[in-house]
Amino acid sequence: MAIQIHLFTLSFILFSFSEVYTVEFAVQNNCKFPIWPGALTGAGSQLSTTGFEILPGSTLTVTTSPPWSGRFWARTHCSTDATGKFSCGTGDCGSGQVTCDGAGAIPPASLLEFTIAPNGGRDFFDISLVDGFNLPVSVTPIGGSSECKSVICAGNVNGVCPPELAVKGQGGGVIACKSACLGLNRPEYCCSGGYDQPQTCPPTNYSKIFKNECPDAYSYAYDDKTSTFTCTGGANYGITFCP
Ligand SMILES: *[C@@H]1O[C@H](CO)[C@@H](O)[C@H](O)[C@H]1NC(C)=O
Repeated sequence: MAIQIHLFTLSFILFSFSEVYTVEFAVQNNCKFPIWPGALTGAGSQLSTTGFEILPGSTLTVTTSPPWSGRFWARTHCSTDATGKFSCGTGDCGSGQVTCDGAGAIPPASLLEFTIAPNGGRDFFDISLVDGFNLPVSVTPIGGSSECKSVICAGNVNGVCPPELAVKGQGGGVIACKSACLGLNRPEYCCSGGYDQPQTCPPTNYSKIFKNECPDAYSYAYDDKTSTFTCTGGANYGITFCP
């Protein structure tokens, strides 16, 4: 009898674990225009979707099972041409359709990078502008332990983007801003060649433009480690574009 109870308890616990350990990303569009978020799995389970449209004011939830690592971003200025091919002015993943299906963002795009641990372990997340910026964004843990804090990139880098790094839309406005590495491709901006160590790759006049607008985001490859955030306790995450 005692054994039966234990087996029952054990199977209940196992069942509970399998129920609890999904992670939800609630992606909200707080912009005044539609966006088409994309998602790319680096390692781990597949996501419930790899690309979708969100109208202004709406939220769509993406789920997967930890352990998982990958990234989210938003595509803007998207349309479907006469042949049915879908493409975007920023963040396009080149798939020709709304789902990205394993393709990543063509930079520049603001990236949200996550590593989600199984069993309520330590998650890592950050906002990366290392390849450039397209939209302001925030990440807010929902649940999790008391150490879990939001990270926000609220600044508008497009508004202060140097002309040599600007990506312009059809109307002539700046719709994204390349990082100096992407736009100018020099070793001191890409932390390559003789600049391939944190000690030899300090911030530059260009990376400082990104850092001033978004102090909590990665502005270049060897930006200080304070830009990585952690959270334990099996949190879900809210992602808001145009927070
Ligand atoms: C950054 O510095 C480089 C090299 O000194 C200079 O050519 C460039 O114009 C500067 N750009 C900005 C935006 O300050």
